[in-house]
Amino acid sequence: MGRLEAKAAIVTGGTRGIGSAIARSFAREGADVMLCGRKPDGVQKAVAELQGLAGRVTGIPCHVGKPEDLNTLVETAMREFGKVDILVNNAATNVAQGPCLTFDEGQFDKMVEVNLKSTFRLVKLVAPAMIERGGGSIINIASIAGIRPQFESLLYSMTKAALIMMTKSYAVEFGPRGVRVNAIAPGLIQTVLSEFFWKDPEKSAKLMSLQPIQHLGQPAEVAEIAVMLAAEESSYLTGQTITVDGGRLLAW
Ligand SMILES: NC(=O)c1ccc[n+]([C@@H]2O[C@H](COP(=O)([O-])OP(=O)(O)OC[C@H]3O[C@@H](n4cnc5c(N)ncnc54)[C@H](OP(=O)(O)O)[C@@H]3O)[C@@H](O)[C@H]2O)c1
Repeated sequence: MGRLEAKAAIVTGGTRGIGSAIARSFAREGADVMLCGRKPDGVQKAVAELQGLAGRVTGIPCHVGKPEDLNTLVETAMREFGKVDILVNNAATNVAQGPCLTFDEGQFDKMVEVNLKSTFRLVKLVAPAMIERGGGSIINIASIAGIRPQFESLLYSMTKAALIMMTKSYAVEFGPRGVRVNAIAPGLIQTVLSEFFWKDPEKSAKLMSLQPIQHLGQPAEVAEIAVMLAAEESSYLTGQTITVDGGRLLAW
């Protein structure tokens, strides 16, 4: 029997990278999964790749920065599964890197809209029913950039730090009602989002040499932690941010 048997999950940004690995691991453990991404062909491809697992994987296009898309995402999950036990707020963006003084307000607003307000809105849509049923697990994908500032990444780091505090705030309030809220702070993981850091083998090797565990992190290594946080085995764990970074923060 899978560790997430009879559970239903939403995973935002589940069409590739960390989100797709989480969707795969959840379905392997028996959960039904509704994933999303902005691009319809990306959703179609990801859903096709994730068939034949213990749980059912389906998906719809959804831009997490658009409230109407989030409504549709949750309505569709409720229609398909009748409930949402697990919410993974994974989709995020990084519109610009550079010195702090070069960012403009449009970029600031976009980062808040996509990386933070999406979680705020989705929690409002999903948590009331979890609270009513007396159970649920919300997992926010933060970053080590939210713990230590990533070089020339004011906006990204700021949103991830805020996500960690949102995690704690929700955890305090929802804990007595049976809903656990935790975050994962990945270090460098080999995905499209982080190509800048690992595509050049020399740069990647240099970064790896700074870490106690010296391989480039893989999405599946984050996904297994998400399974643990979603499963009943972590029933005494809430408000935490689990750093999955090969020990990188110890060595910066
Ligand atoms: N990779 C790393 O090294 C690393 C490190 C620390 C934290 N993280 C965090 O891990 C999470 C996943 O990142 P990743 O590296 O797996 O990124 P990725 O490979 O770029 O995948 C991002 C996923 O999110 C979707 N997405 C992007 N913007 C979206 C939006 N506005 N609405 C809905 N879906 C959207 C993408 O699909 P579409 O393009 O079709 O929308 C895709 O499915 C993010 O929260 C990121 O900040 C990553």
